[in-house]
Amino acid sequence: MKTNICLACDAPVSSFMSFGPQPLANGFLTPDQFDREYFFEMKVASCAKCGMFQLLEQPDREQMFNQNYAFFSGTSRGMAMHFEQLANDVMQHVLKGTNDPLAVEIGCNDGIMLKHFAKAGVRHLGVEPSANVAAVAKSNGVNVVSRFFDEACAEDIIRQYGQADVFLAANVMCHIPYMHSIIKGIQKLLKPEGVVIFEDPYLGDVLEFTSYDQVYDEHVFLFSVTSVNNLFAKYGMEVYDAQPQETHGGSMRYFICRRGRRPMTKAVLAQMDKEKAWNILSPATYERFRRNCEKSRDDLKSILENLRKKGKRVIGYAATSKSTTIINYCGLTTDHIEFISDTTPIKQGKFSPGKHIPVKAYEEFQKKYPDYALLFAYNHSKEIMAKEKDFMGRGGQWIMYVPQVKIQ
Ligand code: SAH
Ligand code: TMP
Ligand code: ZN
Repeated sequence: MKTNICLACDAPVSSFMSFGPQPLANGFLTPDQFDREYFFEMKVASCAKCGMFQLLEQPDREQMFNQNYAFFSGTSRGMAMHFEQLANDVMQHVLKGTNDPLAVEIGCNDGIMLKHFAKAGVRHLGVEPSANVAAVAKSNGVNVVSRFFDEACAEDIIRQYGQADVFLAANVMCHIPYMHSIIKGIQKLLKPEGVVIFEDPYLGDVLEFTSYDQVYDEHVFLFSVTSVNNLFAKYGMEVYDAQPQETHGGSMRYFICRRGRRPMTKAVLAQMDKEKAWNILSPATYERFRRNCEKSRDDLKSILENLRKKGKRVIGYAATSKSTTIINYCGLTTDHIEFISDTTPIKQGKFSPGKHIPVKAYEEFQKKYPDYALLFAYNHSKEIMAKEKDFMGRGGQWIMYVPQVKIQ
């Protein structure tokens, strides 16, 4: 899919920067696949009319989301707690007093959130196209259908289950270029008083922290309250609350209802004012972001080159999807990073997308600590710092790149 019109409002858009040729962020591969690896040019644009930050080219959805999907939500304990809390909040506050409510979650992955609805005996349905992670959800007692959510899927759900009281999505709305079909589906699926709650990495944080690794094939959008509100407004809906989250290096949780059904919170109005003050519609804002990305790339490369010259051992900590953008944009190879350690079995023994750095089991990191670990999973840094006291105690140091490139 390639476009030069805004996926949200159809206005013409043009790219303000390219992150160069990029492979599939989760496309970990074996050597026999190296010569047919897929690449696309990762150009980004921000729409001056509606504020939507977006990719201008994205691989087909089946290329990314299939039975070999490598991201299992349950690999982080922090995220497990985050989604347990959200599930409880929804059950206790949003669904409270509703007779036999129905919760629908798209992109439920391994059931990290819906399993709590299942446990509590609340009617729910997960829609998850990646069959391998959907199978794990099923084994966790979650009612799940393995397909892509869109308008047709919404109609099928209504026929089988009736309308929903709450529509949930975490780190998936920003993956879907065909947003109009999704919102038409939501409009049909949701009861008149129903609410949409979704969260995704937040554009404001990406701009502030230069966390450009949030941009990768799956993330076709980086949302803001402004752009989400503009998008839903076309369908008679509005954002009535917005709550910042610490997850994924800075996310926003959006609460959406049919227009006028719920009072707008002060928080959402304040967030929109902040976005105005940041000039999120202005090309100058993205020009600055581009310069910041280039500086971040140059700084990281020079630290790694220096360590290489000194003969230091550097490994990558966690083969995150985000790391694919860093590695390929900065041109990092096995000259800079000996291997990447990751706890996900499906990634181990494979090679990183694009630059083919070996991905090894976590035990390889523990067996012989490197001098430096480049922390690709900085969004889980609290959890990781607590776990890696031994590495640090033996003089191991971290290389960070968000919000600034530094050794610590
Ligand atoms: N909600 C989980 C998983 C996020 S990963 C979490 O926050 O950890 C995104 C998930 O969305 C993947 O499992 C992918 O298969 C799924 N997905 C992608 N497009 C989708 C669509 N159109 N409908 C439903 N799920 C989709
Ligand atoms: P995420 O940043 O997209 O959530 O991806 C997390 C990846 O990081 C996943 O591949 C598992 C890996 N990981 C580790 O290897 N060690 C850890 O301690 C944590 C928290 C994650
Ligand atoms: Zn637009």
